[in-house]
Amino acid sequence: MKRIINEMKLRLPAISVNEAVARSVISAFMAELNPTVEELGDVRCAVSEAVTNSIVHAYKDLPEGEVGYVYISARLYDVGEVSVEISDNGCGIEDVALARTPAYTTGKLGERCGMGFLVMESFMDSLSVKSRPGKGTAVLMRKKLNP
Ligand SMILES: Nc1ncnc2c1ncn2[C@@H]1O[C@H](COP(=O)(O)OP(=O)(O)O)[C@@H](O)[C@H]1O
Ligand SMILES: [Mg+2]
Repeated sequence: MKRIINEMKLRLPAISVNEAVARSVISAFMAELNPTVEELGDVRCAVSEAVTNSIVHAYKDLPEGEVGYVYISARLYDVGEVSVEISDNGCGIEDVALARTPAYTTGKLGERCGMGFLVMESFMDSLSVKSRPGKGTAVLMRKKLNP
């Protein structure tokens, strides 16, 4: 049985500066596991894509002046594994399988390239996406370091 050696929870307003904040926080949090530069880059990138999605897509229909939140919950395990869950209470995703298709995007033409989920999938060992339309989305990712 793997054991949790550290954990954190973070709630950030879904505004664009917080993509960089999330990246920095996850780096600092993971330091204890002595990740390689490559592993650190992978997790930072995956977290950045998930947080960006909550910022860009989840709350796009919120009335002007209202702000939603992105929730980040991370754990370190004694087997050298990191898990990160990024969730929001936004619009949710109608068809998760379709959303995960490479190059699929509901973003404005030329602004987004629809590769976010592919990046998360390829940089992490596992990715699970749970979403309820009108309720929100949760993305759970895991990666074993120095395997
Ligand atoms: N947190 C989220 N809330 C609502 N919709 C989302 C969320 N994350 C992803 N999506 C949907 O999934 C699509 C694909 O996401 P992604 O692969 O990151 O591509 P992109 O962000 O470039 O559109 C998005 O265009 C959006 O429709
Ligand atoms: Mg994206």
